[in-house]
Amino acid sequence: MIWRCVLCALLLCWTLVLGVEPEHQQEERHTGQKNKEAERDRKENTLMVCPDQCSCTAEDAVDCAGVNLYQLPQEIPESTRHLSLQLTAAPRFLPPTLVSADFAANQLTTIYFYTFGQKPGLKSVYLHNNKLADTGLPDGMFNGSDNLEVLILSSNYLRNVPKGLPTALFRLHLKNNKLEKIPSGALENLPHLRELYLQNNLLSNSGMDNTTFSHLSRLEYLDLSNNNLSAVPLGLPRTLMLLHLEKNYITSVAVDSLSAVKDLQYLLLHHNRLRARHIHRDAFRGLKRLHTLHLHHNLLERIPLGLPRRAHTLVLLRNFISEIGRDDLSTLYTLNELNLSYNRLTSERLHRHAFRKLRVLEVLDLSGNKLSMLPLGLPKSLHILRAKDNQIADLPEGALAAEHAVNPAFLLAGTGGHDKDAINKRF
Ligand SMILES: *[C@@H]1O[C@H](CO)[C@@H](O)[C@H](O)[C@H]1NC(C)=O
Ligand SMILES: *[C@@H]1O[C@H](CO)[C@@H](O)[C@H](O)[C@H]1NC(C)=O
Ligand SMILES: *[C@@H]1O[C@H](CO)[C@@H](O)[C@H](O)[C@H]1NC(C)=O
Ligand SMILES: *[C@@H]1O[C@H](CO)[C@@H](O)[C@H](O)[C@H]1NC(C)=O
Repeated sequence: MIWRCVLCALLLCWTLVLGVEPEHQQEERHTGQKNKEAERDRKENTLMVCPDQCSCTAEDAVDCAGVNLYQLPQEIPESTRHLSLQLTAAPRFLPPTLVSADFAANQLTTIYFYTFGQKPGLKSVYLHNNKLADTGLPDGMFNGSDNLEVLILSSNYLRNVPKGLPTALFRLHLKNNKLEKIPSGALENLPHLRELYLQNNLLSNSGMDNTTFSHLSRLEYLDLSNNNLSAVPLGLPRTLMLLHLEKNYITSVAVDSLSAVKDLQYLLLHHNRLRARHIHRDAFRGLKRLHTLHLHHNLLERIPLGLPRRAHTLVLLRNFISEIGRDDLSTLYTLNELNLSYNRLTSERLHRHAFRKLRVLEVLDLSGNKLSMLPLGLPKSLHILRAKDNQIADLPEGALAAEHAVNPAFLLAGTGGHDKDAINKRF
């Protein structure tokens, strides 16, 4: 009985889909009062016939998510444009007019050739949180659907990148799968791909080569975090702007792995196993747009040589940095924020001129080190200095430039513990 009602509800959904013309309705939204009233009437009607199990948005979509159908019946109206259902098996056929399909968070194990194939207007397919393995995807599953732009396959059981992806693809989500390798050619013919999400897989460097990504001539965003990489992959496309490599086992950054990625702006390398001596001193050379570099939670024993010269934000906390030499930071003219908290810095091994070239530094965090006094020669530009959890017993005269002492915007924040008394004495 219940099953039947669900079917009735579904058929009602389809009727609605059939009756609504999205472009027209959208146009109407921008016309006069009269039309608005008419629209309101129609909306009320729509609400009256929209069944409990589904939600019917004003436009062209009918959302029956939560309606637990075991198999979709055959007769789906020709004009269906947007469809959202809760399914345990994918429909064998969907209408060629389909524009977007949301089958996320189901139990799908199998997709059929005409589920998404032969739909020239299909733009987006959402298949995340299903149970799809490679064998569940037919060869050529997007044949004849050349305009697909967004494909979300996150949180499935895929071991391989699906074959025959449409060339119009703009965004591809494959995170939380079981990918171990991306062989040469797997991502070929995707000249429009801008965003590629591959985090939380099992990818290692041996599973890719220097052509895996090199053909993606418009790729701007690549997320490879939480994989099994031991080095920065080779052959990254030069268009990349944001690169996530955190939470891998990366031990080195080779001289030529990043040098071609001229537009890189954000590089996230935290939670790896990098030592300063294994970051090539020219690894960041020429990356003129790289403004944010995260290297926290690594094994850095000192400041790496050859840091990006245009960096604005440098996050080096939770490493093992025990000293900063006179010239270690001397190329960082544009550095705005430096986080060195929870390292092993001592005042003896922090050179008194180490900060002299940081002319626009505004935020400095030195908390959680072994400093016995605040560093000398801090830049005048500094607004915020944090130094809690150190061994600062007293603040010597001249520890802070006169500008700081009288600058109301300057904040010597969170010195904590017995350090606080020292600060109070001073100010
Ligand atoms: C899908 O398209 C590819 C390339 O055009 C073709 O080689 C393949 O045979 C097609 N698959 C099917 C099942 O039609
Ligand atoms: C890729 O590596 C091979 C050697 O393994 C080399 O011959 C080739 O030039 C490299 N290609 C690119 C694009 O770096
Ligand atoms: C991770 O990579 C290493 C080699 O770098 C390999 O020995 C290991 O089997 C990989 N682990 C997984 C789970 O793929
Ligand atoms: C430095 O990093 C730590 C840890 O993420 C954070 O709590 C702290 O606020 C950062 N310091 C500044 C000044 O932003």
